[in-house]
Amino acid sequence: MSEPEYSYEDLYLPLAPHFRVDPYPDLHRLRALDPVHWSRTGYCWVLSRYNDVKQVLFDKRFGIGLDQLMQIEALKPVFAEPYNQIIRTQLLGADPPDHTRIRALFAKAVSPTRLDTLRRLSSQIVDELISNAKANGGMDLIADFAHPLPFRVICEILGIPESERAPLVDWTHAMMRPTDPTPMTPADTAWANQSAYGFRDFFLSMMRADRAQPKEGFFHDLVLATDDGKITEEELVANLILLFCAGHDTVINLFGNGMLALFRHPRQLQILQEDPSLIRGAIEELLRYDTAVAIARRTAMEPVEIGGRVIGRGQYVLCLLNAANRDPEIFDDPDRLDVRRQNVKVLSFGGGVHYCLGAQLARVEGEVGLTALLTQLPGLEPTTLDPVWRRNVFVRGIESLPVICQSPA
Ligand code: HEM
Repeated sequence: MSEPEYSYEDLYLPLAPHFRVDPYPDLHRLRALDPVHWSRTGYCWVLSRYNDVKQVLFDKRFGIGLDQLMQIEALKPVFAEPYNQIIRTQLLGADPPDHTRIRALFAKAVSPTRLDTLRRLSSQIVDELISNAKANGGMDLIADFAHPLPFRVICEILGIPESERAPLVDWTHAMMRPTDPTPMTPADTAWANQSAYGFRDFFLSMMRADRAQPKEGFFHDLVLATDDGKITEEELVANLILLFCAGHDTVINLFGNGMLALFRHPRQLQILQEDPSLIRGAIEELLRYDTAVAIARRTAMEPVEIGGRVIGRGQYVLCLLNAANRDPEIFDDPDRLDVRRQNVKVLSFGGGVHYCLGAQLARVEGEVGLTALLTQLPGLEPTTLDPVWRRNVFVRGIESLPVICQSPA
């Protein structure tokens, strides 16, 4: 795999401190100057135009190519780490036919029939969180609302008893750490390894408990699928970890980034409060405006030409979903938040075979949660409009957002 010959300064520097706070000026510059960009520092292609990103996500000449990536000398020690061994067979690291087989089993977690139940469950949780906020005169929108809602929903989907949930919070943070491009310290690696072992032992013990005393539900069906040889135990554990982490650490940012955007645009907030029937469309716009999962990664399985440049076989491609979602060729005045924007076809859930498995659930949680925040707490006010951003530029979100409830209990 050789480096392309053209030269350009590296226009994509996601580790720069300003990028974490507001990546969009850099992303516009990148898209305008070099939309099919070779990053020398990342040793990968970086795509920022909507149509190019979409093409790669749907083009079968691109895949994950984990086996090829594992052959890259510099990456060998990283792949050898226990945390990477434990999650090796995750859907996001798999290509068909394994991907197709595993995905079919996990898609049942959020089947249309289950979605109705999950909508009711989301409403119950939201009612409780809103009345707590009213009683306390405020809350941290992240810790007290955006986190507990999807966290409790995914725990219920998997049948994780309430008394056993506490360690899962820290393990999730540890497993998300390697998704950020900032180099891992030895302490980060140790944390990720311990957490991956923690998750693995936790799910293996749930499987043993289910075999001893079967309980009908999604988890039990997965245990049966393992016994029937449809999925190995290793694949099951890896994908339970993925479902668990992806199932809540993303939705948090739909609420965090979304509410922050609305607070920063009070007229848009007011439009939604006056007409909550706009909320479904507004969720697509909020997902577009400040995209929570910023990047999808692919490998070229054969040479492919994009925008006049040839992506070589085995080369790695970053599809910038956040840049694509602000492409002026597709979205009129893309930096404007407009909750009434029509036909917003976002790439926020990716596309192609890896299209987000939980997209519909995320939309349901978003709809139930945002409707309640806007209608039941109409006087909600943030204590800051400049919160601290999480370090991770792959999954973009804020650490915390204290809000005051003007409406008394
Ligand atoms: C607003 C919330 C969410 C966002 C923005 C989001 C975004 C994404 C994106 C962009 C991908 C594709 C990544 C790629 O192609 O490389 C993805 C995949 C995935 N997501 Fe989500 N997601 C969200 C919520 C959820 C939820 C609630 C669940 C589970 C209940 C979930 C489970 C998954 C899984 C399992 C995959 C891997 C699918 C595959 O590889 O076939 N996500 N998500």
